[in-house]
Amino acid sequence: MARQEDKRGYPERMFPTTILHVSSASIRFKGIGKEPFEEARLEHAGDLKASGTIEIAAAALRSSHLVAFPTETVYGLGANALDPDAALKIFKAKGRPVDNPLIVHISDLQMLRRLVPDTYQPSPVYAALMDAFWPGAMTLLFPADEMKVPSVVRCGLKTVGVRMPSHPVARALIAASRLPLAAPSANASGRPSPTTAAHVYQDMTTIKGKEIEGRLPYIIDGGPCQVGVESTVLDGVTDAKELRVLRPGGIGVEDIESVLKDKSLLEEVEGSSSGAVRLRVYGKDLKRDKKDEDHPTTPGMKYRHYSPDAEVVLLVSEKGRALTEAIFGSQDSKAVPLGEAISSYVSEHPRAGQKILQIGIMSMDDSHLTSLLFPQDSATNRNSNDTYDFRRFSLGSLKTPEQAAQRLFEGLRTLDGDDQVKGVRRCGLIFVEALEDDAKVGLAIMNRLQKAAGSVLYVQY
Ligand code: TXA
Ligand code: MG
Repeated sequence: MARQEDKRGYPERMFPTTILHVSSASIRFKGIGKEPFEEARLEHAGDLKASGTIEIAAAALRSSHLVAFPTETVYGLGANALDPDAALKIFKAKGRPVDNPLIVHISDLQMLRRLVPDTYQPSPVYAALMDAFWPGAMTLLFPADEMKVPSVVRCGLKTVGVRMPSHPVARALIAASRLPLAAPSANASGRPSPTTAAHVYQDMTTIKGKEIEGRLPYIIDGGPCQVGVESTVLDGVTDAKELRVLRPGGIGVEDIESVLKDKSLLEEVEGSSSGAVRLRVYGKDLKRDKKDEDHPTTPGMKYRHYSPDAEVVLLVSEKGRALTEAIFGSQDSKAVPLGEAISSYVSEHPRAGQKILQIGIMSMDDSHLTSLLFPQDSATNRNSNDTYDFRRFSLGSLKTPEQAAQRLFEGLRTLDGDDQVKGVRRCGLIFVEALEDDAKVGLAIMNRLQKAAGSVLYVQY
């Protein structure tokens, strides 16, 4: 007699979490037509080991278990989006509030049709966006077929957020399982999003004595994520005349604007066509609204996010004040000299018995702030005295915000002591250099910092 399969999940059941390695280079797709593919199939003729590994994970998903997998933005915690029991496991494993809806990931356009009403036809704006940005870091809200997409995935909303990831491993997993996958970021709720498999392992397993108790059976390791911040979430269904950026993300607002402009789909541009919309960015030119923020329709607004244990403070120059105030709301605080600002934080920060306070600095290599804080020791990025010890985590060059995006969550986790490298002490305080420009992925970075930082410090330098 076949053994009854145990489909229970955390916390009723724990797993010996296995990390499966799959390299993107070993994945081959067969797609019909041009991207975004109408139908995408995984080619097994390529690397047998890779497709075998993907099959193991796909089988677990079909048995309603959770699998964490890499995407180009951040790691996702996936479950069969059409099975309410499976989707509920995501909320439990993350400790996620049950009124925060999940994004559904698809590998091709055929899968989209399994989520929306039979009569649904995408608007010209949506058609243009899918054409330009799928597969990629863009989530679009669609009207949901409420009979097919379980309420737990949508949190009772009439819409469903859908994304076609470009990461070959993510897409292979979706294609092999033939299941749309509900997947939020694979961090424990409130923690920085994971950009490596090790981050997921950190949040999803506990060491009990000698045993490792995991909340899921498999984590697929496909290397570090390239984008590093989550997808841009767009709502073009609530108001047919507007395209709302609910969450800035991996795809910049200017890129969206430029595609719509080219197709005469931006209302403010003369000669625009009848399906044209206004593009509005929530919290920037779409006024923040307390009522909305208490509802889960505005991603990430209601809950505190991305917080490491350390206190995170945003350092803002006078040049960066306008952007920071646009995102954080205007503040009356006067700028203070850098040295003074840091000493006041250092003297007031609780030490927990440490004589020398470990301070993390996340800053750009070529910024004025970095040269002031690390005048001699730019090679080791250390600067110590009797009361504090600065440890720097590079966010790359001022010229490449993409690099800052890719490194942002990694930096918060590393300085917070997650890597547990011998001799590396966790920082009680982390200063992060604010951007002065919100171009490209800059807006997404500042949005994440708004949620990670407990306070803002305006400094003169
Ligand atoms: O890049 C990403 O989007 C990653 C990867 C794994 O794909 N996923 C991700 O999921 O960031 P999550 O759950 O951490 O963030 C999804 C956000 C949530 O804040 C949620 O409020 C919003 O999208 N969302 C999902 N469905 C929605 C809906 N129907 N209406 C409004 N917001 C929705
Ligand atoms: Mg998240």
